[in-house]
Amino acid sequence: MSVFNSAEFDFAFLDEGFTARDIVEQKINEVSLSDDKDAFYVADLGDVLKKHLRWVRALPRVTPFYAVKCNDSKAVVMTLASLGAGFDCASKTEIQLVQNIGVSPERIIYANPCKQVSQIKYAAAQGVQKMTFDSEVELMKVARSHSNAKLVLRIATDDSKAVCRLSVKFGATLKTSRLLLERAKELGVDIIGVRPSFHVGSGCTDPDTFSQAISDARCVFDMGEELGFNMTLLDIGGGFPGSEDVKLKFEEITAVINPALDKYFPADSGVQIIAEPGRYYVASAYTLAVNIIAKKVVLKEQSASDDEDDGTNDKTLMYYVNDGVYGSFNCILYDHAHVLPVLHKKPKPDEKFFTCSIWGPTCDGLDRIVELCGMPELQVGDWMLFENMGAYTVAASSTFNGFQKPDIHYVMSRPAWQLMQQIQEQGLIQPVEELCPSTMPICCAWESGIELPSSSCSTRVCGINC
Ligand SMILES: Cc1ncc(COP(=O)(O)O)c(C=O)c1O
Repeated sequence: MSVFNSAEFDFAFLDEGFTARDIVEQKINEVSLSDDKDAFYVADLGDVLKKHLRWVRALPRVTPFYAVKCNDSKAVVMTLASLGAGFDCASKTEIQLVQNIGVSPERIIYANPCKQVSQIKYAAAQGVQKMTFDSEVELMKVARSHSNAKLVLRIATDDSKAVCRLSVKFGATLKTSRLLLERAKELGVDIIGVRPSFHVGSGCTDPDTFSQAISDARCVFDMGEELGFNMTLLDIGGGFPGSEDVKLKFEEITAVINPALDKYFPADSGVQIIAEPGRYYVASAYTLAVNIIAKKVVLKEQSASDDEDDGTNDKTLMYYVNDGVYGSFNCILYDHAHVLPVLHKKPKPDEKFFTCSIWGPTCDGLDRIVELCGMPELQVGDWMLFENMGAYTVAASSTFNGFQKPDIHYVMSRPAWQLMQQIQEQGLIQPVEELCPSTMPICCAWESGIELPSSSCSTRVCGINC
């Protein structure tokens, strides 16, 4: 694959000492005197690089195949392609996207167990061989349409501890797996190992789910080997957290996965191990800035007990901003996301906080971003920032009611760019510790990103229930 130049990526270099957060400020200042205060994103591609270094350090045996569905921005895909990642594509369009930037078919897994026949044929024509399945009908479709397919059996896992449960829709049980393997033998379909492509479900809170899934995978590998298949690939799926505001941190998960891999798929087994991380790579890279376009003050009825009230409880505030659940905040509906804004203007130390709700711009009552939070009083024209907005946001947003999607301003620091080019040309030649001396998530020496959210941040809005 050729080395990309910075113009192809369409990002701006961060000047020395500047962070992505500074660019947010700069963009806000640029429009401060105008009425055109559209919502916008700043996305730090250096943050994606940092995540990759962290991945390599935490899961050295696992090659990431980025789940394109999570955020199909060309700049993100090019960044990950430069770093040598593979790609999990769910459709013909996603395959086209990654192939158009020069990714070879071996670096693609068509990881959708339910595929349209014409798209299976497209994958065949493009040389994409790795694909997942979990049913007999899919096996028969592949047998007819893609004679060179190398199938990965997707097994159901216990996702009862996950926020986004996927085993409801996908995956074969262990019993069905045997039947499917036998049927594949009859049909002459090549299952290159079970290569169980499982996904324990995004937002998982129990790391043992991963080790159980890996042990189940071993079972299915053994079944496949018994039937004469040459098992060579294990796919541990996605669901790794992309930000720090989660119950189960990335390294807590990998601390469970690595021993399970060593136990069930030791390095000398020759099995290639891949994963399909999506949110892990992109969530924290994106910050969304939205502008308050309307506001409603709802006065409370006065009661006797309110006499000694300091005034903060006499009204609640409703803010209407220029992006909502039909746009970037579709993650609230589809990805079970809970978001809270970071105030753009730092509140004064003695400033009163009010009970507030935040709404999107459409005419639908469903378009609510935050039901309840505490904030100082803001005005129309003020900004709110939402961090960790890179996953399942822009990818599934619509222009319902005619509201356009926010512009995305991509940035990267020069040291991050240089390191990325070095990796693209020579691979990861330095030990990762030298590049990132500190314990993650503390930023790397070549820091180019915004500060990671911290509970002590004075401008962070409090959830009313926290
Ligand atoms: C097959 C498959 N792989 C990977 C992913 C990525 O999940 P995440 O973004 O939680 O890592 C998904 C998400 O739904 C998926 O369905």
